[in-house]
Amino acid sequence: MNTLIRNGKVVTATQTLAADVLIEGEVIKEVRAGIPANSAAKVIDAAGMYVLPGGIDCHTHLDMPFGGTTSADDFLTGTRAAAFGGTTTIVDFAIQPRGTRMRDALDTWWKKAEGKACIDYGLHIIVTDLGACGLEDMDELVDEGVASFKLFMAYPNVLMVDDATIFKTLSQTAKNGALICMHAENGSVIDVIVARALAEGKTAPVYHALTRPPRAEAEAVHRAIALAEIAGAPVYIVHLSSEDALNEVREARDRGVPAFAETCPQYLLLSIEELERPNFEGAKYVFTPPLRPKHHLPKLWEGLQQDHLQVVSTDHCPFCFADQKILGKNDFTKIPNGGPGIENRLQLMFHYGVNKGQLSLNRFVELTSTTPARIFGMYPRKGEIAAGSDADLVIWDPNALYTISAATHHMRVDYSMFEGYEVTGNARTVLSRGEVIVDAGQFLGKPGRGNYLKRTARGGAWK
Ligand code: URP
Ligand code: ZN
Ligand code: ZN
Repeated sequence: MNTLIRNGKVVTATQTLAADVLIEGEVIKEVRAGIPANSAAKVIDAAGMYVLPGGIDCHTHLDMPFGGTTSADDFLTGTRAAAFGGTTTIVDFAIQPRGTRMRDALDTWWKKAEGKACIDYGLHIIVTDLGACGLEDMDELVDEGVASFKLFMAYPNVLMVDDATIFKTLSQTAKNGALICMHAENGSVIDVIVARALAEGKTAPVYHALTRPPRAEAEAVHRAIALAEIAGAPVYIVHLSSEDALNEVREARDRGVPAFAETCPQYLLLSIEELERPNFEGAKYVFTPPLRPKHHLPKLWEGLQQDHLQVVSTDHCPFCFADQKILGKNDFTKIPNGGPGIENRLQLMFHYGVNKGQLSLNRFVELTSTTPARIFGMYPRKGEIAAGSDADLVIWDPNALYTISAATHHMRVDYSMFEGYEVTGNARTVLSRGEVIVDAGQFLGKPGRGNYLKRTARGGAWK
C-alpha cells in the first residue's frame, strides 16, 4: 500500500524543507512539495509537524546476561519502547561467552530477537576471547552483516581483553573493514581502587563513581586510539562520559586520525550527585563509565557541537530497582551496571539540545540517526529521507508536552533515570518500513516484524 505524508517539514542532517513524502511499500518513493493527495491510498496529515528519519540507537543491551542477572527488557519490550520514542533501528550487543565461537553469539541473539523484535535491528559482537576461535571468525561475521565488534578494556576476568587481543582484532578490522567499538576504562587500575574502597568499608553506590576516575577513562581512550593507529584501523569509543576522555578523542581527530565517539543523554544531563540519593536510590544511576562531576557536562555538549563527538546513543541496559539493583545493597560492586533510556533519547535530545539552543535541528538528526547509520554501515538505507531509503519515519510534534515517568513509560523497568523531567517535543506517529507502528500513544506494530539488518563493513565515515 502507498502512503503519503503531507504538509510536514522534512528534516534531515543537511536540510529542512516543506515537502511531502510518498512511500511505496516499504521504501520512500519521492520527496517533494505538492505531491497530489490522490497519489496514495493512505494520507497522513503532518501539518505543524517535523518529519524525521527514524532514530537509530546503536548501543543497546536487550536480554543480556550481566552482573549476575539479565537486563530487564527483551527484544519485544525493548524495541517496542524504542518505537514509542521514535527509534526505528537499534544495534544491540551479542556477547561471545569465553571459550565459544563468535558465531554462536550471533545465533543466540537471533533467537532472542525472533518473534519479538518490533523494529529492525543489527548486532555488534562483543569479543571476549580469541582462544576458541581464530580471527577469521570475525570475517565470517562480517559476511553475515556484523560490521562492528565491541571490546572491553574494563571488567577484568569477566569481559576485559588484553592489549594483544585488542591489537589483533583492530588489525583484523583494518583488513575486513569492520569497526571496533571500545569500552575504554582501565579495568586493572579500577579494580585496585575498588578493592581499596571495599577494604575501607566504602560500600555505598556513590563509590561506584568515585572508584572509576575520569583519568582511567582518558588513559584507556588514549591507548585504544594509539593501538588503532598502529593497526591502521578506525576506532569508535562507546559511552564517552568525561572531559578528559573527550580531550583524547579531539586531539586524535585534530591529527586526522579516524577516531569516533558517542555519548549518551545520561552523561549530558545527569551528574555524580545522583549516586548519593538516599535509601539506596543512588543504585539507579550505577552504570559504567559512571556519572561525572557537573563541570564535565557542558564540555560534552561542546563536543557534540564541534563534532568531536559524532553520535548520541543510550547504552540502554535496564535493571529493575526492586529485585536487581538491590543485589548490591551491601556492596556497590554487586549492583548490576546499567540504566534504562531507549525510549527517551529523542525527547531528551530534542528538548535539551534543540529547544535549549545547544543543537540545530539538523545536527539533532545527524547525531541520533544519520551518523549512526553511516558509521555502522546502514546508510542510505537507514538514517535518510530520500527516494530509495527505507520508509522509517517519525512524525514529530515539536509542541507536544510530555512528562517522563516510570508510571507511563513502556520500558520493562520500575524506575526512570529522568523521572519527572518535562520535555517539549515527542513522536506522534512512527513508521517502520512504511508501516505505522505507533500512533498517538498506541502501539500498532506486531512483535517479530523487525528484520535483522545485514550491515556493510567500512561504512565510509572514515574515508
Ligand atoms: O553499565 C553499563 N554501561 N552497562 C552495559 C554494559 C556496557 O559496558 O556497555
Ligand atoms: Zn561498555
Ligand atoms: Zn553498553
